[in-house]
Amino acid sequence: MGTEADREAGAVFTARRLGVVPETGRVVVTNGTQSAFNMLLGGLVGQGNVLAVESLTYPPILVLAERLGFVPRGVTMDGEGILPDALEALCRRERPKALYLLSTLQNPTTATMSLDRRKAVVEVARRYDLQIIEDDIYSLLPAQTQPPLAALAPERTWYILGVAKSIAAGMKIAYLVAPSPADAERQFWPGVRATFWMAAPISAAVSTRLIVRGGALRIIEAVREEMRLRHEIVRPMLGGLDFVTADGALHVWVRLQQGSSAHRLAALIRERGVNIGTAEPYALPREQAPEAIRIGIGHAQSHQELETAMITIACSHADQLKAY
Ligand SMILES: Cc1ncc(COP(=O)(O)O)c(C=O)c1O
Repeated sequence: MGTEADREAGAVFTARRLGVVPETGRVVVTNGTQSAFNMLLGGLVGQGNVLAVESLTYPPILVLAERLGFVPRGVTMDGEGILPDALEALCRRERPKALYLLSTLQNPTTATMSLDRRKAVVEVARRYDLQIIEDDIYSLLPAQTQPPLAALAPERTWYILGVAKSIAAGMKIAYLVAPSPADAERQFWPGVRATFWMAAPISAAVSTRLIVRGGALRIIEAVREEMRLRHEIVRPMLGGLDFVTADGALHVWVRLQQGSSAHRLAALIRERGVNIGTAEPYALPREQAPEAIRIGIGHAQSHQELETAMITIACSHADQLKAY
């Protein structure tokens, strides 16, 4: 589950969000968030059981549902993420074992929960004895944030803070804080000799150094500043579009007009050399994906490249509207 030093660094890192330094025994150093999912979802949810997810969810969860045989069920969202009433209705109907969500900068909608919404979701989870898997990967980027659900309900939350979005995706390190040391051991220890989930020690060591020596904070500050500049470039270029994004977000979510096809628009934009996403991979099986596109603004190598790509997107959108 990581060396003592690596777990201590993870405790310090996650404390930035949790508000308190968690006991080292609760911390597991994983080979990235996705690796943590592999270990957690099999054990916490299990074959044939239900996992509650946001109605548009991070696609690897859906891939893992097929592989591990659990059933993902969507919870309706508004501008603040999942609706507590909808979660409660699902709990009554299908008794999910756990809930997977992003409470800050949801992927793909960029929705962030208010404190009241967080409290209401936790209350439902407590009432129905639901485990919470909180993926807080984008939470170090906005200037202002709310505490994670893990700070409100540590007894049932499996908190995951990956470094991919705030420090470097290539490190493939995520820190997980389990409800208790015994829970961490139960979910993670048995597989350690038979799988490759264990974090590569060299990556873990680099991450520890960055955290302990302060480099991590400097990188996070730099990423924040870069995103602030990119938002300044991108937002004025989206005039007239129905878009949502938020301070620190690495992407923009654009809802298309009724009758438009996100699939066709994305194909046109890609033909013109810019890679772009649609809602489809985020939609649950047999659910209709909304007509929307997802513009990642972190990938471009320069402001110039970002600006050129945004022009391509805006022109393609205008061309598609004309064609209707
Ligand atoms: C919601 C979410 N979770 C996790 C990850 C990354 O996971 P990892 O820590 O395995 O790189 C991403 C990256 O795209 C993401 O969007």
